[in-house]
Amino acid sequence: MSYLKMLSQFGASSAHPGGFSATLEQLQHFNISKESNILEVGCGTGRTSCFLSKNGYQITAIDIDTDMLKKAKKRAEAQELNINFVEADVCCLPFKDNQFDVILAESVTNFADYHTALSEYYRVLKSGGTLYDREIVEVIPIPSDLRPPLFDFFAFRQLASLDQWKSLLNSIKYNHVSSWDYSLLVLDNRDQVNHPDEFQYPDSHIFTNFQALQTSFEYIDFINTYKEYLGSVVLIGSKP
Ligand SMILES: C[S@@+](CC[C@H](N)C(=O)[O-])C[C@H]1O[C@@H](n2cnc3c(N)ncnc32)[C@H](O)[C@@H]1O
Repeated sequence: MSYLKMLSQFGASSAHPGGFSATLEQLQHFNISKESNILEVGCGTGRTSCFLSKNGYQITAIDIDTDMLKKAKKRAEAQELNINFVEADVCCLPFKDNQFDVILAESVTNFADYHTALSEYYRVLKSGGTLYDREIVEVIPIPSDLRPPLFDFFAFRQLASLDQWKSLLNSIKYNHVSSWDYSLLVLDNRDQVNHPDEFQYPDSHIFTNFQALQTSFEYIDFINTYKEYLGSVVLIGSKP
């Protein structure tokens, strides 16, 4: 079973480095105006979008995966939140140019062609709007024989160093390109303890689904094996 399918079957939320704690820290650090029209791309099961909506923000959330979106909608309905969920690909956003003040992505862009996705984010941002994209980065070059298994497991389209991400953002003409919270990847289950998810909807019989369990164990092995090579960072860029 693929990594993303496993996440969707478990109804996993905050499936990005640092989990929901990292999301909260980011939102505290970068104050987003309540008037902002926000797009969350690759929203998964919708925890971040629901949190923002609950706090008075206007949110549009997209994901390419129907099952993820079903769970995100269920989460929003359970909290009576009004979020515009759209099934869409980050490489072909179904929005007009210059629509959003803020775009949020949490471990999404690496699963698509990052040049196309970042160009699409730029296109739909308003002038003066800002992208915050938390992604996995290559901290030191991964030996060539170790690359294929990692790419096969996660279905990453690419992995890039922080400098490569920044160069790409600059080449797309984002300005004020910067980064925040650059750190090595660590497995840490404190997030689930500190911020348990009340609205997680795992598929029925998931805990006896051998393939899903196997993929979740493989995930732990992959992170442990590659931890010296991988980090995460929030990439920031604005549209002039
Ligand atoms: C690792 S999960 C992260 C989900 C969510 N951001 C979170 O933090 O829990 C990656 C998400 O990106 C979505 N995704 C992958 N490729 C995509 C694409 N081309 N367009 C839109 N969403 C995509 C997946 O369906 C999945 O929900």
